[in-house]
Amino acid sequence: MRILFGGGIAGALAAMIYPAIKFLIPPEEPEAEPDILKVGRKEDFPAGTSKIFKFGRTPVILIHSKASGLLALSATCTHLDCLVQYRDDMGAIWCACHNGKYDLSGKNISGPPPRPLTPFAVKVIRDEIFIAKV
Ligand code: FES
Repeated sequence: MRILFGGGIAGALAAMIYPAIKFLIPPEEPEAEPDILKVGRKEDFPAGTSKIFKFGRTPVILIHSKASGLLALSATCTHLDCLVQYRDDMGAIWCACHNGKYDLSGKNISGPPPRPLTPFAVKVIRDEIFIAKV
């Protein structure tokens, strides 16, 4: 009886502790980052619009600016990691969390962001848009 009771407690403890340990230890293989990502057709992105994509684990914002054409930058604010957004009315990239602002090259121009956004390459091949690491 004592063996059965002790084994049951040990089993219950193992069932609670094992998932917690698995959650806390990161996987050995990091998530694969793609070299290039197809994001859609050129006609899907009219001038003045933007869209955020996942490039592996990195959010990337693709912007079709009326003045600068297609450009892609990391969409994670360099201040406290909020997602940024393209503001066509401001002609800038804006972070709503603390009113941070970046120009269309990704340079931080006002507010608390300490560094520029990371640029990504944009290629258009037969009207298909691709994003790649620089
Ligand atoms: S997180 Fe973007 S300005 Fe603070």
